Order: sequence, then structure tokens, then C-alpha cells
Amino acid sequence: MLVAVAVVLASLVGGAWCGPPKVPPGKNISATCDGKWLDAKATWYGKPTGAGPDDNGGACGFKEVNKAPFNGMGACGNAPIFKDGFGCGSCYEIKCDKPAECSGEPVVVYITDMNYEPIAAYHFDLAGTAFGAMAKKGEEEKLRKAGIIDMQFRRVKCKYPGDTKIAFHVEKGCNPNYFALLVKFVAGDGDIVGVEIKEKGADEFKPLKHSWGAIWRIDAPKPIEGPISVRLTTEGGAKLTQDDAIPAGWKPDTLYPSKLQF
Ligand SMILES: *[C@@H]1O[C@H](CO)[C@@H](O)[C@H](O)[C@H]1NC(C)=O
Repeated sequence: MLVAVAVVLASLVGGAWCGPPKVPPGKNISATCDGKWLDAKATWYGKPTGAGPDDNGGACGFKEVNKAPFNGMGACGNAPIFKDGFGCGSCYEIKCDKPAECSGEPVVVYITDMNYEPIAAYHFDLAGTAFGAMAKKGEEEKLRKAGIIDMQFRRVKCKYPGDTKIAFHVEKGCNPNYFALLVKFVAGDGDIVGVEIKEKGADEFKPLKHSWGAIWRIDAPKPIEGPISVRLTTEGGAKLTQDDAIPAGWKPDTLYPSKLQF
């Protein structure tokens, strides 16, 4: 009898005999959402005052998220925020009211990584630095001790300091027949839903496929010739074209800053 009750209870809380109940993910947060504050859980990972992963990378493919312009303000979004990588680079204001160390003042974080833990409909697993930034001055360490807290968040337009332009990174392992491009530092919507390229002398743009994170790729039977123009489409439908973004004689594992920004 007791066992039967336990089984029924366990099935009610999601099939687990112990541990927290599993919560299904919330609705996708899009660039065209109304920007209302929503509830989420916040946790943190990595070093207390670090940028998250030990290698300062993450599931978006951005590197050195400890450095400007991210400065350690990165977050692993759960499914409706990371969106299989389509959410990479999107920006959120986050804040908390409890515990007492919370300042209640919103701070901006960038989606740089993923977490698919089923602990809440919305869950931000934050870099230690970003979690601490929700605290009152001097109480960052005390807030981090809470480990997991309730927080509020809303989607906002991304702003980058000064004259930060969109940057293109031709990924490691690229060759004339395989081209993979990481797009970063996108202001405005922040997340990209389409990347197209136009090779030297071509009349038309052709679409790249989403590979993973913030990386888009194409396999080309004919060698890809630079200079390559790049056209971006954001989630909200904004478009921007950088002519000759990638020069003739482009090389793998190389960053090509653009001249443009949304
Ligand atoms: C949420 O986003 C992911 C990734 O883009 C997509 O696969 C999924 O279909 C979306 N879900 C809904 C309900 O729109």
C-alpha cells in the first residue's frame, strides 16, 4: 500500500522517486515578445567571479566571454531561451528581490551557452560574475552562497559599447569547400535566423545552414572564392549586408570585424 502511494506520488511529480520535480520548458522567448517581466530560476556555475566555463567558451561558440564586450556577463539559457542555438547573442535584463542581498536593479546578460536542466519553465544558469551582478554592492559573494534563487527576466535589445561592430569568425577547419561562419556582437535583436553569402562575381546570395550555436555553414562543390559578402537576418526581421566582409585569401580560424552594426 505504502509503495503504491509512493508510486502514485512519484508519477504526479514527474516520475522521479526523489529530487526536485521536472518542470516542462516555457514558451520560446522571441525578439517580438512584449518584453514583460517573467519569473525564472537562477543558478550559477564556474568560478565565483568568472565567466562560466573554464575555457571561457560555451555552446554558442563564442570564445573569451570573460573579455569585453561580454565581460563575464554570460548566461546559459534553457530551451525556450537558447532555442537550439538560435537564441545565441540575445540579451536579457535580469533582477531578483529575494534574498535580502538582491539589489532589485536590472542588469543585462548575454546568452552565450545552454542549459537544459528541467528545474523551471525558464532557467538562467549564470556565470558567477553575472549572478553576483544581481546583488547589492559588496554582497555578491553572499548572494552566490544562495546557489539557486527566484529571479525575473525580460528580453531587451542588445547594445554594445562604443563602436563595437558585428564580427565574423571563419571557423577552424574551414577550407575552400567548407565554409563555417560564427556571427557575434549583434546589437538590436541580437539573435540571427538567417545568414547568406555572395561570393566574388556571383549575382545572388545563397543561404548558409544553421550548424550549431552561433555558427552557420555551407558545403560547396566549387571552391568558395573571396571576397565574400554577408547578409544577416535577425529574429525580428531586420536585415543588414556587409559587402566584401570576408576578403579574398580568407583563412580559417580568423576573425573578420565588419564595419556595420544594427
Ligand atoms: C522553439 O525554438 C526552437 C529552436 O528554434 C524550435 O525548434 C522550436 O520549434 C520552437 N518552439 C516553438 C513552440 O516555437
